[in-house]
Amino acid sequence: MSKKSNIIAPSILSINPFKTEAFIEDLCHQGLSLVHLDIMDGNFVPPITFGAHYVSHLPKKEGLLYEAHLMVDNPEKHFDSFIDAGCRRIIFHIEATNHAHRLIQILNDRGIQAGVAINPSTPIESILSILEDVDMVTVMTVNPGWGGQKLIQSTLRKVQILRKIAPDLDIQVDGGIDEYTAPFAATAGANILVAGSYLAKDDVWTENYETLERAVGLE
Ligand code: DX5
Ligand code: ZN
Repeated sequence: MSKKSNIIAPSILSINPFKTEAFIEDLCHQGLSLVHLDIMDGNFVPPITFGAHYVSHLPKKEGLLYEAHLMVDNPEKHFDSFIDAGCRRIIFHIEATNHAHRLIQILNDRGIQAGVAINPSTPIESILSILEDVDMVTVMTVNPGWGGQKLIQSTLRKVQILRKIAPDLDIQVDGGIDEYTAPFAATAGANILVAGSYLAKDDVWTENYETLERAVGLE
């Protein structure tokens, strides 16, 4: 069974917005290659976060991919604005559309990677028919909407099954990742680990990032 190397995807959700630029700049010195942006609309999930205007002002660097995790209803309505703001991967929720292939096609036609996210209670059967077409699956390991929640263990079983079905697929886990849960997620088969509140803890993101890297065998 082949598996890609592990990547940490910092989420800026729990970072003081006035420190976000420093957070990204500092982690770039640690080899950061991916930033995870949590977009919430107050409908698909209760909270509202930030929009494309904010994203457009985040520091862009060669080799640094921004991905937008759209926790929104009617995700396709927001594709253009986040693409124009600099996102090169867009993750939509399978629970937010009845037309997943069409959404993937829209993104691919614009040269944008398509990710699909599934909530903890959504069975993997709901995405089997699009596995060949997506660039990444995001298995929500918490219910979307808030940082700082505890990882729901049963979601890792879905990761295990997906990894067996699709050895080469990028599988992301999102929610509750810390130095203790990350190794379990990686062992289950996840190769992209979103980390939010863990990195933000005590504002020592560089140290936290290094600790998390060590936890999943990256240094
Ligand atoms: C939850 C978001 C996550 C969140 C993860 O709705 O999709 O990306 O930022 O935060 P932590 O790592 O604190 O669980
Ligand atoms: Zn997310």
